[in-house]
Amino acid sequence: MSSPPAIRAGRLQDRLAAFAAIGATAKNGVNRQALTAGDRQARRLLAELGSARGFAVSQDAAANLFLRREGRDPSLPPLLLGSHLDTQPTGGRFDGALGVLAALEVLEALADAGVETPRAVEVVAWTNEEGSRFSPGCFGSRAFAAGRIDPAWENALSLDGERLGDELAATLAALTEAAMRPLGGTIAGYLELHIEQGPVLEREEIAVGAVTGIQGTRWLEIAIAGAAAHAGTTPSSFRRDPMVAAAASLHDLYGNVMPRDENARLTVGRLRAEPGSINAVPERVIFSVDIRHPDPARLDAIEAHVRRTCAHAAAAAGCRSEASILFDMPPLTFPDAMVALVEDAATRQGFSVRRMVSGAFHDALFVARVAPAAMIFVPCRDGISHNEAEDVEPRHAAAGAATLLECALAAA
Ligand code: GLV
Ligand code: MN
Ligand code: MN
Repeated sequence: MSSPPAIRAGRLQDRLAAFAAIGATAKNGVNRQALTAGDRQARRLLAELGSARGFAVSQDAAANLFLRREGRDPSLPPLLLGSHLDTQPTGGRFDGALGVLAALEVLEALADAGVETPRAVEVVAWTNEEGSRFSPGCFGSRAFAAGRIDPAWENALSLDGERLGDELAATLAALTEAAMRPLGGTIAGYLELHIEQGPVLEREEIAVGAVTGIQGTRWLEIAIAGAAAHAGTTPSSFRRDPMVAAAASLHDLYGNVMPRDENARLTVGRLRAEPGSINAVPERVIFSVDIRHPDPARLDAIEAHVRRTCAHAAAAAGCRSEASILFDMPPLTFPDAMVALVEDAATRQGFSVRRMVSGAFHDALFVARVAPAAMIFVPCRDGISHNEAEDVEPRHAAAGAATLLECALAAA
């Protein structure tokens, strides 16, 4: 009699190390932003690992990459397991990669044990989850759920002036041996393992988080326009300085939004002055505002507050402010049966488990629009993520992968 499928923790660690080497930074992190040469190299390695095990490799027009292990009945919709391989500019080794490589480990564990599943199980690596090189994020999973690529997304430009559509075409062309498949399609369900990216599981010494939902995210871009002027000669009464307005806006936003609502998050992670000359009052200052809240009405209220604050600060400085929405994701609740699937799987394996809401967004948010989806969280050290110091204990990575395998066996 063959033994039941089991995760090989050492193999998972080796894979995590191999992918962490692609785009490795001096501080032990990873810079493998979406659709760069590093991203293409990581996709190639995943495709090679899959081919070596006899899994069918395919990609769609959004460069989502799939490895398929066939089931008994190929006509049944597959179960999808995955996450993303792109990282933040100063990202860690686990955000995204853990979910993809644990999914590969599940496929290999099934193959090692010779288990035949009724339906196919597929690993997916979604394109551009992070949204830091090309905004907005979750490009691949959104395109998959919509069954189409919005032409507006293809025209997104990176800070270095590259067009997403061009980088996408080059990324697809770099992996011609992957069969092209239609974008979207029917799937039976989707499971995503991810690091928590926050401190709760570690603090409570709990091995597994069963994610009940994802809080809402809204990204705004604020552009404040004033008048360029000579830095050495222009007295303040003659200036229309957008930096003065930006500084006043940020002072108000940081002083009022989070301090008045413990569930709110507000982050200005990108700010630039144009033309960006040391000795000129800038013509324009442009900054991003990332707002998060579990309650959509509060997201609306915070957005209105941001718009009002920036408009007032701009007017006071003789400038004009414009706000545009870059990304808007309402909060999501996963189906209770899927949350219970994770809880039961973790419990059967002997892992402690708790229900929790995700503060970060994930590809599961979009895949949940077309199929029942669930997410499994594991602890990360000090809750640190979007940082090169991100770290996950091998036992936690293995527990997450074992829970993913258990869920997959139940769902496939
Ligand atoms: C995902 O990377 C997020 O910013 O929540
Ligand atoms: Mn992620
Ligand atoms: Mn991330």
